[in-house]
Amino acid sequence: MLKLPNWTRRNFLGQVGGLGALMSLPPGLLPQERLPTRPIPGTGESLPIVGFGSSKSVLEILSQGSEPIISVIQSLLDRGGRVVDTSIRTTEIDEAFGRDVMQVPAIQENIFLATKVNTPNAEEGIRQHEQTMRLFGRRRVDLIQVESLNGLEHHWPRLKEWKDEGQTSYIGVTVSNYRNFDRLEQFMRRESPDFIHVNYSPLEPGAEERVLPLAEDMGIPTIINRPFMNGSYFGRVGGQKLPDWTADFDCHTWAQLSLKYILSNRAVTCVLTETTNPDHMIENIEGGFGGLPDESQRRSIRQLLSNL
Ligand SMILES: NC(=O)c1ccc[n+]([C@@H]2O[C@H](COP(=O)([O-])OP(=O)(O)OC[C@H]3O[C@@H](n4cnc5c(N)ncnc54)[C@H](OP(=O)(O)O)[C@@H]3O)[C@@H](O)[C@H]2O)c1
Repeated sequence: MLKLPNWTRRNFLGQVGGLGALMSLPPGLLPQERLPTRPIPGTGESLPIVGFGSSKSVLEILSQGSEPIISVIQSLLDRGGRVVDTSIRTTEIDEAFGRDVMQVPAIQENIFLATKVNTPNAEEGIRQHEQTMRLFGRRRVDLIQVESLNGLEHHWPRLKEWKDEGQTSYIGVTVSNYRNFDRLEQFMRRESPDFIHVNYSPLEPGAEERVLPLAEDMGIPTIINRPFMNGSYFGRVGGQKLPDWTADFDCHTWAQLSLKYILSNRAVTCVLTETTNPDHMIENIEGGFGGLPDESQRRSIRQLLSNL
């Protein structure tokens, strides 16, 4: 389990109230088992290979409170995970998320925080960034991304300035749709961003044709979104039996099958999974442990899924 300074741990437990029970490790997971990491080329830093995309759980903060999302993040931290991806929501939601989640000391101190600007407007992009820093109680984040290449020409020079000023360690861009792939590739060749963040899964494998090989050639670390195609993957596989041969690479659930397929691409640095459910987070994290499919098993996975 993650070792936190006592005062930090106490504060954290105070913040989450009755969630102490959720701080224990699941059966079968030894305390020393922490998620494997992959390097960020040329930096000496590395990232745990499974992270958290905080979409739906952030949207639910106003109706469900902050305990569910704090439990999910704590599940990640307990197993050595760090990467938390955020996006711009309404001011009311971002205020609650910043105050009740991002400023919990154990979270504030231990996550690799990725933020975004997501507007076509140059001035609005600056306002979004300044508001994120203020609401999250930050002078520095780990990664700032231009979401979906939106307003890229305005924001990229600004992101470079913010990096030069020390407001972030890394800058990058996200896409989540094939239609942005050509533009992403051109941008990668021209600007060599610190990170790219792209959609990729066995049912949405397009990135493995050109984008991921290019990232690997250029030494650009990659964050993967839509591992479950925002949940529609489970509609495809729901009710089907997972074939026994998947246990050969330590895969025990359909969620892990997608994650292990993604992670077996060596251009992948970290895959984000979105969930409101701490048990799903644990299941997804466990997908980062053990074996990964080889090339022939990857072919079998694609074939299996295309027949469902
Ligand atoms: N352009 C962009 O920048 C962009 C676009 C899309 C996504 N993203 C990032 O990528 C992250 C992930 O992508 P995504 O939002 O498309 O979500 P996703 O991770 O592909 O799918 C999330 C869905 O899968 C379900 N789920 C998760 N783990 C499960 C499990 N073990 N068993 C059963 N169901 C499970 C979740 O439901 P439960 O809540 O019930 O678990 C949720 O409905 C986002 O949160 C965001 O950070 C970025």
